[in-house]
Amino acid sequence: MREAIFHAELGDDVFGEDPTTNRLEKMAAERMGKEAAMMVSSGTMGNLVCVLTHCKRGEEAILGDQSHTFLYEAGSMSAVGGIHPHTIANQPDGTMRLEDIEAAIRGSNVHFPRSRLICLENTHNRCNGSALTPRYMEAVAKLAGERGLHVHLDGARIFNAAVALGVDVKELIRHADSLSFCLSKGLSSPVGSVICGSGEFIAEARRNRKVLGGGMRQSGIIAAAGIEALEHMVDRLAEDHENAKCLAEGIARTPGLSIELNRIHTNIVYFNMVSERFTAEKLVTQLADRGIKILQVAPGRLRAVTHYGISAGDINLALAALNEAMARS
Ligand SMILES: Cc1ncc(COP(=O)(O)O)c(C=O)c1O
Repeated sequence: MREAIFHAELGDDVFGEDPTTNRLEKMAAERMGKEAAMMVSSGTMGNLVCVLTHCKRGEEAILGDQSHTFLYEAGSMSAVGGIHPHTIANQPDGTMRLEDIEAAIRGSNVHFPRSRLICLENTHNRCNGSALTPRYMEAVAKLAGERGLHVHLDGARIFNAAVALGVDVKELIRHADSLSFCLSKGLSSPVGSVICGSGEFIAEARRNRKVLGGGMRQSGIIAAAGIEALEHMVDRLAEDHENAKCLAEGIARTPGLSIELNRIHTNIVYFNMVSERFTAEKLVTQLADRGIKILQVAPGRLRAVTHYGISAGDINLALAALNEAMARS
């Protein structure tokens, strides 16, 4: 990847003249089965640019109460776009019930914001990295179409979903009007995300990216890594899923910890500290001292993620460290 960055052919992307960025965007659009694509700096920017492109001020986006866009993107749709987030419950598998979505769509009444957009997340970070199926995506899109709404997909880890479900990524995107996916995270680029949609949508999104200060000049140094990521890092995600499963099985065998094993299908492993003699904070610190990073996401709730560079042997080392820490407590 560093070699590719070093050798990248560059130009000014604000003028559409960076050949490497143009190549990445063309490649991403083809891979996703959409007319056009545009690189952005991050998943957060990708989601915001898409939401701004779908909705005007005072309009409403319906999204899950556990979604990354609602919880962890600094309230950007309302802060920047004056767009009203309408949250409904995420189920443990990352879906929202169709009847809940339907009930959330506003009727035509001067008192209400206008419902414009439904946002989905696949895989769903907070919901155990669950993969939403093509069938579910289709059902939501059908409902949206009937009620005149658009669908945006936060597909930060969309390739993890495709690999876990054993489907072509296009099957998961076909029913969304727009998509944002990350070149970073599991695909291992140092920076960058891509949004995809119709040609008209991406042309308008380009304006919104500029508004946010997201037009970049010689952006090919980022795009070069993204091309490597798309070409070489997708198929190996299965290895991360296998490692996550081994980690989860080891955690299930560890006294003092609990985990819902049947929910672990991708590279994200959530588990709970249930020991009364130990705390999640102390476990995080003790593992960090041994070079193992895990995150506490809520009191007693922990998250570990597997990725490129973590081998099956590393998982064994992590489990040994985890067991020692729990046994000592
Ligand atoms: C589901 C999801 N969407 C969006 C993002 C935002 O990506 P970024 O950190 O590149 O802004 C993340 C980051 O973890 C995420 O998990």
